[in-house]
Amino acid sequence: MKAIKKAVFPVAGMGTRFLPATKANPKEMLPVVDKPLIQYAAEEAVAAGIDTLIFVTGRNKRSIEDHFDTAYELERELEAKSKDKMLAVLRNILPSHVKCVFIRQSQALGLGHAVLCARPVVNDEPFAVILADDLINFSDKPCLSQMVDLFNFQHCSILGTQKVPMEDVSSYGVVDGIQVKPDLMEVSGIVEKPSADKAPSNVAVVGRYILTPRIFELLENTQRGAGNEIQLTDAIAELLKEQRVLSYNFKGRRFDCGSKLGYLKAQVEFALEHEEVGEEFREFLDSLAARESDKIVQMNKSS
Ligand code: UTP
Repeated sequence: MKAIKKAVFPVAGMGTRFLPATKANPKEMLPVVDKPLIQYAAEEAVAAGIDTLIFVTGRNKRSIEDHFDTAYELERELEAKSKDKMLAVLRNILPSHVKCVFIRQSQALGLGHAVLCARPVVNDEPFAVILADDLINFSDKPCLSQMVDLFNFQHCSILGTQKVPMEDVSSYGVVDGIQVKPDLMEVSGIVEKPSADKAPSNVAVVGRYILTPRIFELLENTQRGAGNEIQLTDAIAELLKEQRVLSYNFKGRRFDCGSKLGYLKAQVEFALEHEEVGEEFREFLDSLAARESDKIVQMNKSS
């Protein structure tokens, strides 16, 4: 089977959970410290050996195109002011061998439909899908690199998964299957957003997929499902009737940056690790924590 060289980034969702921030801007452009979510996702793809980034955009697409495009005026301005460090940051957003392709999803009909829009560029190759609002921190190897390594060995579709609390399963695609290793499952079933009492497990699909091109033919025939959207999960449910599909509990901490709380947690974790502001930010958090615990002591005294 061919190597994974293409990644699809569906960025045409409405981002309703993050309004009004997402009224005029896609949620994938929300920054964590100093980089938009979509750049973290693009860097993860490039680190995994991908050389073609396919963005499926909707309304408000311009900022994402602009972000990955050359900004001549800005570069000239930085050159004139000898701001070399910032200039290098701007010029190194993507390595020069990486191509960006933009495809328009004219109606937000669901994640499955967004992936199908990428078919003319992906063609008949296995490919990755990254949902940039699932931001994954890692200590050793980025999530997609772990999955590509596994693909190179197993040559089949792989779903990036995590165990979630049972009360949260109704927000995810949830898999059923046979455990073949502590972090690996042979998938036998998958359902989108099940209620806790109907969920086959608490193993949830979170924003990283490697799929064989057969998924496109199945998506062509996928009807609207949960939320009246064309669901990728439903096409995967068909795929696993024909082909082997694995689910892989990747190593790394995931932040659901499509939700306010997940986004805030990501900001704190990434800020603490940031080489420029990390140390001062830690001091700030320490003083904040001390202030808050003083408040609690005072409250307890006066009650
Ligand atoms: P979500 O389920 O998070 O939906 O989409 P959303 O519209 O982005 O956000 P909320 O729930 O309204 O706050 C999962 C991923 O699929 C993309 C989104 O951009 C996100 O990366 N998507 C979803 C599309 O590209 N097109 C669609 O029609 C739907």
